[in-house]
Amino acid sequence: MFYSLARNVLFNCDAERSHDFALGSLKRLAHTPAAALWRQQLSSKPKIVAGIEFPNPVGLAAGLDKNADCIAAFAQMGFGFIEVGTVTPKPQAGNDKPRMFRLPQAEAIINRMGFNNKGVDYLVNNVQNSQYKGVLGINIGKNKDTPNEQGKDDYIHCLRKVYAYASYITVNISSPNTPGLRDLQFGEALLDLLNAVKNEQLALQAKHHKYVPVFVKIAPDMDQIAVEQVADTLLRSKMDGAIATNTTLDRTLVAGQQFATETGGLSGLPVRQKSTQIITQLRQAVGPELPIIGVGGINDSNSAQEKLSAGADLLQLYTGFIYHGPKLIKSIVNSL
Ligand SMILES: Cc1cc2nc3c(=O)[nH]c(=O)nc-3n(C[C@H](O)[C@H](O)[C@H](O)COP(=O)(O)O)c2cc1C
Repeated sequence: MFYSLARNVLFNCDAERSHDFALGSLKRLAHTPAAALWRQQLSSKPKIVAGIEFPNPVGLAAGLDKNADCIAAFAQMGFGFIEVGTVTPKPQAGNDKPRMFRLPQAEAIINRMGFNNKGVDYLVNNVQNSQYKGVLGINIGKNKDTPNEQGKDDYIHCLRKVYAYASYITVNISSPNTPGLRDLQFGEALLDLLNAVKNEQLALQAKHHKYVPVFVKIAPDMDQIAVEQVADTLLRSKMDGAIATNTTLDRTLVAGQQFATETGGLSGLPVRQKSTQIITQLRQAVGPELPIIGVGGINDSNSAQEKLSAGADLLQLYTGFIYHGPKLIKSIVNSL
């Protein structure tokens, strides 16, 4: 009820302005009685993945709370875990606006935000000041003006900054909106990056006396051979898991719709099947052990179950959450 009303208002405005307004309100009101509007008590569906105990397997996907401003409010909604970021070493403005578009007919979003964020120090400060005790993923990336050859340094910089505060860390190499970023998903570039991340993770483990798992987030726009190569590299570099998937460049399922030709990554229902297919192929390639977080087009309990049946251990929501609100978390958790 609350979200249907809020959505009517929000969907009448420009997508990014609505997003900023909603996040600003959640941040301001999280510690006031107004939080009763979105607070939900969900049944406990604990699951241990990568050595972490998740109170339920439905998480918030990266990109919604890029600067970790609203952790308290998302926790109140009942998410079993929250992934903040993508964060980069230096603050950056991202691409020119408009850069976020709703395609309601397809229950989809196209975005070309370009890692707009306030930088890793701001995010860490927010996390330190939050009283959140739940599972927190921190998603890291590289600045746009860092050439790919030095991209590794950006990931290592962020890894060091966030290590002490994260339950797990996501290496994001799959955003379509940072030129060349997706090239890091392949061949020697990937192995080189992930080996460096692994070495640093082990050094940080010794320093902080705790092991923080590292997940790698991949794109849906890959054929089976590419998925198998990525899988092989994840295993060789001893990564702790994968997140599949980010947004797609494919516009087949939205052809002819308003905004369909906008540049950027497409999310929501049109990426559902592609992302499930990648999860299936990845699970086949990595075997039963490696944790996979399934994300892409989950908008009800069936699409959630589809990801789990394909081999995902945990789930994340972004676009489905924008269209359906907090009740989506509850209906999925209840169905499990
Ligand atoms: C506006 C927007 C911004 C996003 N920003 C990020 C980001 O910063 N980092 C990231 O890893 N994924 C980002 N994503 C991708 C989502 O986390 C998710 O992987 C993708 O949208 C597929 O899930 P969905 O269909 O539930 O939205 C973004 C998605 C949207 C719609």
